[in-house]
Amino acid sequence: MLRRVALGLLMAAVAGPAFGQAYPNKPITIIVPFAAGGPTDLMARIVGERMGKELGQQMIIENVTGAAGTIAMGKLARSAPDGYTIGIGHLGTNVVNGAIYKNLNYDLINDLTPIALLPSNPLLVVTSNQVPAKDLKELVAYLKANADKVSGGTAGMGSGSHIGVLAFFDGTGTGYQLVPYRGTGPAVQDLIANQIQIMIDQSSNSLPHVRAGKIRAYAVTAKQRNAAAPEIPTTAEAGFPGIEVAIWHGLWAPKGTPRDIINRLNAAAVAALKDPEIRKKLEDLGQDIPTPEQMQPDTFAAYQKAEFAKWKPIIDKAGVKIE
Ligand code: MLT
Repeated sequence: MLRRVALGLLMAAVAGPAFGQAYPNKPITIIVPFAAGGPTDLMARIVGERMGKELGQQMIIENVTGAAGTIAMGKLARSAPDGYTIGIGHLGTNVVNGAIYKNLNYDLINDLTPIALLPSNPLLVVTSNQVPAKDLKELVAYLKANADKVSGGTAGMGSGSHIGVLAFFDGTGTGYQLVPYRGTGPAVQDLIANQIQIMIDQSSNSLPHVRAGKIRAYAVTAKQRNAAAPEIPTTAEAGFPGIEVAIWHGLWAPKGTPRDIINRLNAAAVAALKDPEIRKKLEDLGQDIPTPEQMQPDTFAAYQKAEFAKWKPIIDKAGVKIE
């Protein structure tokens, strides 16, 4: 009996993690910091499902909403660092929130380990069909004349849609009331219904509704027109240069997750974004897909830090903070 146990232990040692308890041996949860049906949720579902095939396990989506993603990232930071709970976030949740929220109960850079950079979305300036402006110049004039009557949706202070609003206000000299939502998925439904009139929204969330004629797009916040919607002018072409923001996404794990597990998850994400079917789905929604080199954990970690150094002074200057 003793010999059999010893033999088992020896085999496990020789086979390493592939013996019996190979990672992953149960479903992996992806914490999504915004409501179901929005751009982050969509990214988690498209990329996560394909990663699951690669890893031979089911990926479970858990939407943990509220406070522009800070509740979700706090939960992720406190999860077991065993590779079975990871999180998806973006420029807002994993960079800008660190500058806006002064009392986060986790350290955005040190408590979360980058796994992989994921695609980025430009933002679209979109309104309900009830707004009577034909182009961006007319829209800006309309907003200036109706500032007290117009409401715009965001997913909270520090979300991607809020970063878009900050750039839009700065670049156009306009302002309007902001209504916070648990994600831009529900917000865009209210835009369609004219409960709110305007959003600066990720292309993956808005474009299908623009194509269906349910809302109107005026400009894309990028240097170049987007191949998925070449008819939409850039903000510069529409008369307002300098409004250029893209919301990149990424995957993180709690600090202390073993490096071989981070590498395994990274390889699954890289494989997912090499899949032509996945690429087409993402590109049709206006997304820009990073290269495998850009996706590497260390390259991504350096990029996140550089983005923090870039955005912190912008947010401080804008005076946006929550104590
Ligand atoms: C979402 O998934 O709802 C969005 O990413 C929210 C946002 O950051 O605007």
